[in-house]
Amino acid sequence: MKKLKSLFESNAAWASKIAEANPQFFPTLAAQQAPQYLWIGCADSRVPANEIVDLMPGELFVHRNVSNLVVHSDMNCLSVIQYAVEVLKVKDIMVVGHYGCGGVAASMEEERHGLIDNWLSHIRDVYYSHRKFLGHWEAKPHQIDRLCELNVVTQALNVCNTTTVIDAWSRGQELNVHGWIYGLGDGLLRDLGFTVGNKDDIRSTFNEAVELIEAKGERIEGHRCDLECTH
Ligand code: CO
Repeated sequence: MKKLKSLFESNAAWASKIAEANPQFFPTLAAQQAPQYLWIGCADSRVPANEIVDLMPGELFVHRNVSNLVVHSDMNCLSVIQYAVEVLKVKDIMVVGHYGCGGVAASMEEERHGLIDNWLSHIRDVYYSHRKFLGHWEAKPHQIDRLCELNVVTQALNVCNTTTVIDAWSRGQELNVHGWIYGLGDGLLRDLGFTVGNKDDIRSTFNEAVELIEAKGERIEGHRCDLECTH
């Protein structure tokens, strides 16, 4: 039977390194968690939440799924948001996508991928909402990157529209929702211009963020590469 011994050894070394630097670290953390942030990101192994923003255990509450989706009826994600907002009282929720997201690319493929296609159809909905801008789908890298960005701001919009977040703002609770995207090629996060801190700003901020993304439109046709592209 394979027991993945090497991972247990790595874990023991990691725990002793942290305990050596701060003997109270684990006992303090075991007593309570008080993260300021909820990270909703892609399950992709190249986008590890804590490492990217250099935060320690206890500092980031994390929910990850394929292509960082926030589906209106997904009890898993909605429960995470409720717990984060109402119990942990996080101050910021960030939806973090990444360029070159395999789920985003797969959502537009004609071939069947099995059960996951039902999940990915939420991204296909994002494409249809923006098909005038994205144009006829040819799976160009620039098209995929713009769809990755539009997917992030749409999911951030969905976070804003959850009952949990609306209720928190109605109570006057301090809470901001952000839309970010991560570059696999350079390890850097980019702000997509979506930050909402109250109910009245949801739609206008979403529209502005979409305009910012659409302003990059010529890159789809022009194949102009820059830091925001993954190729
Ligand atoms: Co992904």
